[in-house]
Amino acid sequence: MKMIKRIKGTHDLLPEDSREWVALEDLIRQIMDKYNFYELRTPVFENTELFARGIGQLTDIVSKEMYTFLDRGKKQITLKPEMTAPIIRAYLENKLYAKSQINKIYYIAPLFRQENPQAGRLRQFHQFGAETIGTAAPEADAEMIDLAMTVYDRFGLKGLQLTINSVGDPQCRDPYKKTLQDYIRPHLHEYCPDCQRRFDENPMRILDCKNEACRTLNQQAPKIVDNLCDDCQAHYDRLRDVLQAMGRQYEEDAYLVRGLDYYTRTVFEITSPALGAQNAICGGGRYDLLAEELGGPSTPAIGFASGIERLMMVAAEQVIRLVKEPRLDIFFATVDDAARHKAPEFLQWLRGNGFKCEMDFLQRSIKAQMREANRQNARFVLILGEQELEDDVLSVKIMEQGQQQVVARKELIPFLNQRM
Ligand code: HAM
Repeated sequence: MKMIKRIKGTHDLLPEDSREWVALEDLIRQIMDKYNFYELRTPVFENTELFARGIGQLTDIVSKEMYTFLDRGKKQITLKPEMTAPIIRAYLENKLYAKSQINKIYYIAPLFRQENPQAGRLRQFHQFGAETIGTAAPEADAEMIDLAMTVYDRFGLKGLQLTINSVGDPQCRDPYKKTLQDYIRPHLHEYCPDCQRRFDENPMRILDCKNEACRTLNQQAPKIVDNLCDDCQAHYDRLRDVLQAMGRQYEEDAYLVRGLDYYTRTVFEITSPALGAQNAICGGGRYDLLAEELGGPSTPAIGFASGIERLMMVAAEQVIRLVKEPRLDIFFATVDDAARHKAPEFLQWLRGNGFKCEMDFLQRSIKAQMREANRQNARFVLILGEQELEDDVLSVKIMEQGQQQVVARKELIPFLNQRM
């Protein structure tokens, strides 16, 4: 019969690799804790409208990439393509603002986008990210950037580039959009179809189009940073000051806009030279209007998300060093059927006393069981045979020393504990 394969753009995380993921996640959780962020987990699927309204109808994610389907009740459902909209939905729905004025939230989650798979671009991928909800302070923006960079520092990543920009707020952005449209309009027919489509609704997205022809046309385009209102300017100035004081090097790119429509003021991206075409390891920004857009009270917020597969691609060596080699405390070897019947209760008893144990399920010879114990790096092999059963003892082999001795069952736990 034909074998069923996994879906294109998805991966199986095999046991040997999942140990690395667990080590990576553990370190991320430790750092999140130091920065005082707490985890929020949301469902894998949401009402489609959450993303259509939250991320924006014209974005690539919503218009081309979402896994959207009708469920049996004819409801439109979408597998989450990003975490910010679900986090804000959960924040509003659970009234987290009533418990604390500021909520600092992090996540590690699988996400789904129907993109063309290539190195570093998957259809099911994973992000870790953080969101500070409830403050407009530029210090919170700097903390967010510093948090992301601290994670990468701890994984020893080199040569990362942090790029920042401000995309303003409606007060300065609306007049700026008109200025930009005036600049683009005479050449609109020379732009790519995506840019032409975005011209009316979201002309700023034209600025970070990757198409060479569009980039050339954009070279002299007016910049939002030259058109910021006083409040946005002060916010941006303060952010740059704090980053400098923290020793976080950055570049400014007046055309960095990002592919999600919810951003206001700060946007940033972190790229790695060690990644290929998909070189963004992290993206984020401020989204002060999203909570209102989703029907909640006005709530300023800032966040970022980082691709875990991409982080793994550049940090694999450092992550491997974090992984502890797996080993067994006890391999429980059995000589005959009578011993094998007794083995499960022995293992239960030993595990209950805190030992990591394994037994032979394949009726192998004692020699083969010894080899298996070695392969699994066991500290002790306990051997149960006819004589041991009769005398209520176990033969204990201490693998490191190669010695074997007989120990009474009631003395076994202290005997092992002393030698762990
Ligand atoms: P994003 O730029 O769409 O932002 O994604 C953030 C990161 O997720 C990217 O820089 C990349 O590392 C990773 N990523 C995205 N798509 C894929 C894919 N198909 N395969 C592998 N990795 C991928 C957001 O998602 C925003 N929610 C970030 C944010 C949080 N803004 C504010 N708060």
